[in-house]
Amino acid sequence: MNGANPVTNPTNLTDLTGRTAIVTGAGSGIGRGIAEMFAAAGAIVSCADVSGDTAEETAERIRAAGGRARAATVDVSHREEVTGLVDAVVADHGRLDILCNNAGIIIDVPVLDLGEAEFDRVLGINFKGALFGCQAAGKAMVAQGGGSIINLASGAIDQATPNLLAYGVSKVGVVQLTRTLAVELGASGVRVNVIAPGLVETNITRRHYSRVDGSIDEEKRAATLAPMRAHSPLGLIGTPEDVAWAALYLASDAARFVTGQILRPNGGIAMPW
Ligand SMILES: NC(=O)c1ccc[n+]([C@@H]2O[C@H](COP(=O)([O-])OP(=O)(O)OC[C@H]3O[C@@H](n4cnc5c(N)ncnc54)[C@H](O)[C@@H]3O)[C@@H](O)[C@H]2O)c1
Repeated sequence: MNGANPVTNPTNLTDLTGRTAIVTGAGSGIGRGIAEMFAAAGAIVSCADVSGDTAEETAERIRAAGGRARAATVDVSHREEVTGLVDAVVADHGRLDILCNNAGIIIDVPVLDLGEAEFDRVLGINFKGALFGCQAAGKAMVAQGGGSIINLASGAIDQATPNLLAYGVSKVGVVQLTRTLAVELGASGVRVNVIAPGLVETNITRRHYSRVDGSIDEEKRAATLAPMRAHSPLGLIGTPEDVAWAALYLASDAARFVTGQILRPNGGIAMPW
């Protein structure tokens, strides 16, 4: 743990050797990138996803690279499944050091057409899924005297985007969940932060240029990504690794002074105070 002593080796601060971590939505995209980053830093990672097959793929990739991981089939919108996973990690390893609530979905529907069931589904996964994770992990972390929770929001918290009301509301809710919990749990040594990425090319973004059979329409892809890239002062679209570096920082002792904050790996597309 860093503190009064001068930093002699910055990499020690981001070393997660022996820490236990859960990443939800770890079967794909950003969640896979974060799970692999945590494992590369030495953590023992539970890769949770509603798709058990893709969660297992991620765990297998980590093990093949020499890391420690196992897969769990968990639908984060079901409280008992999330609590069961946290309990299992604590039972097996004695503690849970890091939770990354990353699982999320998006739907594109104009406000006037938004059905109640669609709205509930997005809120159920994106907001309540994070809430259930925070509650279960928060209790374990308070009992052990510390931990780091990282919640995935989105650039949707900084602007109104047509057709993304449910998604935006869920992510704004995640920010307020984070800030409230940061205040409530700080005295117990539990840090809670948000990552709000800009555009990262994953299955979530590929919906704009995937054909019905799942293949990519390259022409449409180029046409979709070009204006997004141009919107970034850096001229960049993000990768899962760009977000995973932010997660590594927030998970680690390097961020011991950081809680209740929003970190925006977004290529500069939004610069709120
Ligand atoms: N890709 C982007 O541009 C972008 C930008 C900002 C924020 N985000 C956020 O990053 C997170 C990850 O998104 P991604 O882009 O990697 O998308 P993705 O679709 O590649 O990954 C999402 C993962 O979540 C899993 N998942 C979905 N519902 C679940 C449930 N009920 N329980 C457990 N797992 C579930 C999926 O199976 C999938 O593996 C999401 O919270 C998303 O809102 C993404």
